[in-house]
Amino acid sequence: MSVAADHPLWERFQSDLRSVDSLGSLSEVRDKYLSRQRGLLTLELKELGRLPREERPAAGQRLNQLRQRVESALGERLERLQSDERSRKIQRETVDVTMPGHHWPLGTLHPLRRLQEEMEGIFLRMGFEVVTGPEIETDYYNFEALNIPRGHPARDDQDTFYLNDSLLLRTHTSPVQIRTLEKRQPPVRMISPGRVFRRDAVDATHSPMFHQMEALAVDEGIGMGHLKGTLEAFFRQLFGEGTHVRFRPSFFPFVEPGAEADVSCIFCSGSGCRICKGTGWIEVLGAGMVHPEILKRVGCDPDRWTGFAFGIGIDRIALLRYQVDDLRLFFENDIRFLRQF
Ligand code: PHE
Repeated sequence: MSVAADHPLWERFQSDLRSVDSLGSLSEVRDKYLSRQRGLLTLELKELGRLPREERPAAGQRLNQLRQRVESALGERLERLQSDERSRKIQRETVDVTMPGHHWPLGTLHPLRRLQEEMEGIFLRMGFEVVTGPEIETDYYNFEALNIPRGHPARDDQDTFYLNDSLLLRTHTSPVQIRTLEKRQPPVRMISPGRVFRRDAVDATHSPMFHQMEALAVDEGIGMGHLKGTLEAFFRQLFGEGTHVRFRPSFFPFVEPGAEADVSCIFCSGSGCRICKGTGWIEVLGAGMVHPEILKRVGCDPDRWTGFAFGIGIDRIALLRYQVDDLRLFFENDIRFLRQF
């Protein structure tokens, strides 16, 4: 046993050291024994001077040894505390890659929105730009400017939600034709998707709110052939190469001539089935050549510029595209239905 080991301070120190459990309590113990002013060991060393001269060397050596042991014990303890802390930290920060992850349910686009974006994509690639217009319209843009004056029978076809004498919920996206041509000189190629409103009773194919996509192309030398070609290119990308488009003469006050367009039934490829009611064709849009009066009204010379326009019922297309037989499914937002898309 070394000379220091039987010093009473050594035992006291060891027992203090055993109760150390943190860096804080360790430095308390260090101070208790080694602080320059009141450390117990420091005091003992100061006392040395009072001993008889011949006892001093042995006592001094003993105390110095004790101090070295105390210091190295403190040092070891410090190292252990630090390495414990390190391993606790590593433990805390460890990522267990085998733990099951949190499941965050991912939302998806509403099928109508997805279809709309798909349709936009096709037209964008054909050089059309997307513009939008207000859902609350004036009587002027929704009707007057489109050659549907008050009292015109075409107003009755579109049972309108009026907000007051001059404001209404737009019944179609055609007002965006006027708004665009007022702002822009031809050549113009635009599409305009959005919500439209009519006072229809709800059933499998009617809703008071539905979606249309308007298209307008005005340039020099535009004719019905461009209209037909654009629609065929569009529907072939949407429904497949074998899709055909046919026109039936029809009337809209803002086009001349006007037409309704059918696509060959995508369910039976034209041979006739329940969906197309045996005709092989499904009606999907109204179209025509922009009426010269409309061009004049927005300051375009109809002798120089001609254009085509059409308005597609997006919801109609959705029924076909997703093979759903009831429009209400798209608006009720039952998650079990929507999740399938
Ligand atoms: N706006 C017409 C409707 O809602 C559709 C249409 C658009 C017809 C453009 C011709 C040209 O019924």
